[in-house]
This record gives sequence, C-alpha cells and structure tokens, in this order.
Amino acid sequence: MAIVLWNEDMSVGIDHLDDHHRRLIELLNQLGAAVSAGNSRDVTGLVLGELIRYVYYHFGEEERLMEAAGYDDLAAHRQSHRIMAEHVRGLESAYDRDPSAVVAAELHGFLSDWLVHHIRSEDSRYVPCLSGRAGAA
Ligand SMILES: [Fe+2]
Repeated sequence: MAIVLWNEDMSVGIDHLDDHHRRLIELLNQLGAAVSAGNSRDVTGLVLGELIRYVYYHFGEEERLMEAAGYDDLAAHRQSHRIMAEHVRGLESAYDRDPSAVVAAELHGFLSDWLVHHIRSEDSRYVPCLSGRAGAA
C-alpha cells in the first residue's frame, strides 16, 4: 500500500494545522501498514477508528479557525468537509457491518488521494487569510 509523505510544499503556514495534516498522514500510513501486514481486524479497526475520529476533529478545528479569520470561502470549504465526512461515515458503517480488509483498503486509498489533493488545492487557499493570526499556532 502506497506510503503518503508530508512535504514542506504541503504546509499551510499554521503549525497547528500542519501538525494535524502530518498526524492524518501518519494514521493513514498506519492503516495502510495494518492492512498490508494482514493485521487482525481488531488492529485494523483500532487504527481505522482513530483515523476517523481524527478526521472529524481536524475538520472541526480547521473550520473554527477559518470562521475566526473571517475566511470568505468557508461555506464551500465546509461543504467539501461535509461530503468527505459523509463518505467516511458510510465506510465506517460498512466496516462495522463487515470488518473486511477490503473496506479498510478502500478507505485508505480514497482518503490518501482526497487528503493530498484537498491540502494542496482547497486548504492552500485559506493560507493568506489564516497565516500569521494570533492563536492560530
Ligand atoms: Fe480542509
């Protein structure tokens, strides 16, 4: 399973959110490793649960900071998060019903592609608005 790497060019200029993105990537890689190693459903499920919880937490934090900064594209960004959260929720329910590695692998592939694209395109657009604000770090 492909490893995702965080690069400096993915930085949004806010340490707090860069840390979140790095943590998300770390959890994604842990999930990929668990699936590739054929780890037990318990192990895969634990990593998957942690990843999903962190996705929700991160979206909430990012939206809070965008709102505080008066970011004018907040509604569209929030919508993008909402669509992603719904997709993740759907995969989570599927995993709960049938915890097969196929679902975890699907989530890994989907989230990896989405996250890297989202950070580089959508998140990068809030950088000028959010960077340098007090309390953002
Ligand atoms: Fe975002």
